[in-house]
Amino acid sequence: MADEKIQLESLFSLTYGMYIVSTAYEGKFNGQIANAVMQITAEPICIAAAMHKDNLTTTLVEKSGIMGISVLEEDVPMTFIGNFGFRSGRSIDKFCDCEYITGELGTPLVIDHCLAVVEAKVINIMEVYTHKLVVGEVVMARALKEGGTPLTYSNYHLIKRGKSPKNAPTVVFNAL
Ligand SMILES: Cc1cc2nc3c(=O)[nH]c(=O)nc-3n(C[C@H](O)[C@H](O)[C@H](O)COP(=O)(O)O)c2cc1C
Repeated sequence: MADEKIQLESLFSLTYGMYIVSTAYEGKFNGQIANAVMQITAEPICIAAAMHKDNLTTTLVEKSGIMGISVLEEDVPMTFIGNFGFRSGRSIDKFCDCEYITGELGTPLVIDHCLAVVEAKVINIMEVYTHKLVVGEVVMARALKEGGTPLTYSNYHLIKRGKSPKNAPTVVFNAL
């Protein structure tokens, strides 16, 4: 291992899940894959997602102030991840052939290949260079299945042999 000041391999030991972050604005439904999602407070329950500034989902989340998180299960097909994670809603309708429910704020929450859904109202957005850290207060959370295994970011790479596109915060791991 090279003796660099920032060893990228060390960051690969941080753990993540795999999610679809979704939203709706003026009748347009959109969503994107994100691994950089976490719960940050308990009372009230708040979540945060790191979203690239160039993503359509990021723009629509900012405009609408609503955000959904769907927790992907381990046996989700790679084609499903490809649709949400490697293509932009600027050129396709990602919701035209996937199942979803609508949250109380109007957020489309993807239920295909997912174990749980969460809906949140955006309360803060912080700029972090290429990304925006979007913080939302949870208004609804529902388990869809019991006993399923959530897909981890690590298994996305190790089992599914998946890569990350340029807008993912963890894109650097593609080279390792
Ligand atoms: C495995 C994986 C992880 C990703 N993680 C993130 C992430 O945490 N944040 C982000 O902004 N984009 C992430 N992306 C990239 C977006 O999903 C991608 O840029 C998407 O095409 C954006 O679509 P949109 O323009 O319709 O919003 C990830 C993609 C993949 C495949």
